[in-house]
Formats: sequence, C-alpha cells, structure tokens
Amino acid sequence: MKSFTPNEIDPRELHKILLSGVAPRPIALVGTADTKGNANLSPYSFFNAFSSNPPVVAFGPAHRATDGTKKDTYSNLMATGECTISAVTHSMVEQSNLSSCVYPSDVDEFAKAGFTKRPSQDVKPPSVMESPFAMECRLIQMINLAPHIKGSGNLAICQVVRLHVSGSIFKGDVIDPHKIDLVGRMGLAWYVRASGDAVFELAQPRVNGIGIDALPDHIRKSQILTGNDLAKLAGVEKKPQLNPSFTKFDAAMQAEDFSLELKSGNPYGALYTVLSGTPPPPEKLQEKLHKVAQGFLAQGKIEEAWQTLLLPL
Ligand SMILES: Cc1cc2nc3c(=O)[nH]c(=O)nc-3n(C[C@H](O)[C@H](O)[C@H](O)COP(=O)(O)O)c2cc1C
Repeated sequence: MKSFTPNEIDPRELHKILLSGVAPRPIALVGTADTKGNANLSPYSFFNAFSSNPPVVAFGPAHRATDGTKKDTYSNLMATGECTISAVTHSMVEQSNLSSCVYPSDVDEFAKAGFTKRPSQDVKPPSVMESPFAMECRLIQMINLAPHIKGSGNLAICQVVRLHVSGSIFKGDVIDPHKIDLVGRMGLAWYVRASGDAVFELAQPRVNGIGIDALPDHIRKSQILTGNDLAKLAGVEKKPQLNPSFTKFDAAMQAEDFSLELKSGNPYGALYTVLSGTPPPPEKLQEKLHKVAQGFLAQGKIEEAWQTLLLPL
C-alpha cells in the first residue's frame, strides 16, 4: 500500500491518481453564453448534486494547467451567472467528448458537436435537446480553490431553477436507469456505461441491523463469507432463532451433487446433499454450510442463510 501526501508527487500524476480513485463521476454538459449571446458547451466531470432542497449542483471548471487561462465556461458563468447542465447518455458520449475541444471563445460548440439547442425558459443559455435530462441553473457562488496557483481548480455552486425531463426515460413514475443510460467518467480516458449488468439494486436498511460485530464468531471469521455477505446477515434487527422445520425436506426432494446444486442456483438442494449423506467432519461441514448460506444470500434469502448458519455442527 503506497501512502503519500499530495505535495510528494507531480501534480499531473496526482491528477491521474485522484481521478482514477474518485470515480465514476457523472458528466455535466455545461451550456453557457457570453454577454453577446454566443453559446458555449463543454463537459465537466468534477460534478455532482449536493442538495435537493434547495436543488443545488456544483462543478469544477479549472483554469488551464498549461497557462492559467480561464475556460470559456468559467468566464461566461462569471459574466452572466447562468448555465444549463445536460446529462450525458451513452448515445451522446462521442459528441460530448468532441465538445471539449478548445475552440476560440466565439465558436459555438453546440454546432461543432452537432447538438441541437433546447431554448431555456428561465436562463439565457440553451441546453442540449439530445439529452433526456437537463437543468437550467443560476450561479450561487464561484469559489477559487487556490488563487495563488496558476492552473487552480474552481468550484461553481449553482441553484437549479428548472428541469427538463423526457418522458422516454420513465418506467411508471420513476426514472429507469436502463432507459436514461447515463455514462460516467473514470480515470484517464476510461468511461463507464451505467446500464445492463453494471446497474444493481441494493435494499435500503429499514431497521437498525445487529451489526457485523454482533455476528457469532464462526460467521464473522468465516473463510467463505465475504464482507458483503456478512453485511447482509448483520442487517437483521434481531438474531434469528433456529427453526427446526427449516430442514424438513420435501419427500420428493432429489439432489446428489453439492457443487452442482450450488452452481445451478439451488442452495436448498445443496443443503439436502450435506444433511442426507454421511456427515463430513465438522470443519468441512461448516465450510459447506457457509457456501450454502452464501448461495441463499446471493438470492436475497437472508432468513434461509441464517437458518443454514444456525444448524448445529
Ligand atoms: C468527459 C470530460 C470531463 C471533463 N471534466 C472537466 C472538469 O471537471 N473540469 C475541467 O476544468 N475540465 C474538464 N474537462 C475538460 C474541458 O471540457 C475542456 O477544458 C474544455 O475545452 C473547456 O471548454 P470551455 O473553454 O469552452 O469551457 C473535461 C473533459 C471531458 C471530455
């Protein structure tokens, strides 16, 4: 494990390391306009939402590291106090990347990147029509994070004054992550597509769980169960009691091979093979029971996992 302070490494190296570890980051496609009304568009991945009441987002338009000059987004925002932020979806990622080119101030990156302007209602800069999620924003505060450094970072804190959300990304009355199909920025030139297998649901804790420190030793110190497994077990409000009917298998139950049953997603069948055959030595039995419990946990069957782990060895 390397351990160092930011001053110990080259700033460009630090940039790469920081952005690889603080990832994935959402990408704001920021639309601004200068005082003459010339539109500007650029992606910013130092970006997030920080409050929904009031709705506040922030992004970081740094001064250029090469010569300390100000980016158009920064200058326009300081001059007008207004911007739009359009979410970047997978179908727009190449065009968004193109909009990051350093064109002269009066060049319209909406046109260069081939995006259509969606006129705003409450601010002057347009947003990107191709994005299914866009916000009209007003600058609350621009913080210069280190005025003494040439290419210093800045933090633009903005209030959202209007949202444009396409009906196409909804499933019922909620936004479907697969339909919005967002992309995020990672370190170097890596991106991530937030859909398909990359998106998963995690049950939110509804009660105060007993905690991993309250799990019985043989569970907490398991060589099989992972931290994620333990956390699922520790999320119960009370340690369950052994239920004797848990191992009353159906008379028609047929299962012969432990590994095969587990692999085919049948932890109950795997448990049957363990309990119906010649009992293995306690250590081996414990290993098998932990594997079965893990199989149940993978299916979200917390009670079954607990019952398996409560079985006497
Ligand atoms: C995906 C992506 C994310 C970016 N994020 C940032 C960022 O957070 N901060 C920044 O200063 N520049 C960022 N950039 C670089 C700017 O987009 C680039 O400097 C651009 O030329 C600025 O344009 P402007 O002068 O029109 O504002 C990013 C570029 C890409 C492609």
